Amino acid sequence: MANSKILHHPFFIVAIKLIFLFSIVTSNNYYYQSMSPTIAGFGEEKFTHLHFYFHDICSGPKPSTVYVAEPNGKGHNCLPFGTVVAIDDPLTVGPERDSKLVGKAQGLYASISQEDMGLMMMMTLAFEEGVFNESTLSILARNMIVRHPVREMAIVGGTGEFRFARGYAHSKFHSVNFTTGDATVEYDVFVFHY
Ligand SMILES: *[C@@H]1O[C@H](CO)[C@@H](O)[C@H](O)[C@H]1NC(C)=O
Ligand SMILES: *[C@@H]1O[C@H](CO)[C@@H](O)[C@H](O)[C@H]1NC(C)=O
Repeated sequence: MANSKILHHPFFIVAIKLIFLFSIVTSNNYYYQSMSPTIAGFGEEKFTHLHFYFHDICSGPKPSTVYVAEPNGKGHNCLPFGTVVAIDDPLTVGPERDSKLVGKAQGLYASISQEDMGLMMMMTLAFEEGVFNESTLSILARNMIVRHPVREMAIVGGTGEFRFARGYAHSKFHSVNFTTGDATVEYDVFVFHY
């Protein structure tokens, strides 16, 4: 029959498949879809190095760190095990606190080691300058501030220019005032992103 010949024509079969695919993609009933990253706008991967200074300001009229919780039993150090601190720390181009601001480190850190001086960093590096204005990087990592002169922390993700970010940050003290607790930390961040 002529009709069944049409139904088995390769062009007809391809057309049916396309209509079927289109109906899946446009239907309200699907919750996932396999797609090409290039179509979504993610082309070539980039690699970026960022360098800045992080200021933990505990003293003065406008501290950038605040104690959220302090454990009952005081330890032998200034950040006893269990302490939780919230931060809104400026990130600057140079080591001076009044040098050009490039962003903020916002989040929390907690004292997580009983034997050593260790912090768990849970923070967002939110940039405010240049092409990375409004883009962020997320750090979730342990930071053994006494054991290692240079600490390595994982970059677990990002937003904006840093979508799909993965990489690491190296941090080392530039200066610390043990009386006030003020610290300036030099950061070198290496990230892959799109
Ligand atoms: C960063 O982006 C914000 C919001 O779009 C804008 O108000 C600000 O002027 C920008 N800053 C710089 C330095 O470009
Ligand atoms: C630490 O800060 C105190 C109080 O501001 C200041 O008197 C002292 O000189 C500072 N120490 C260092 C080493 O900068």
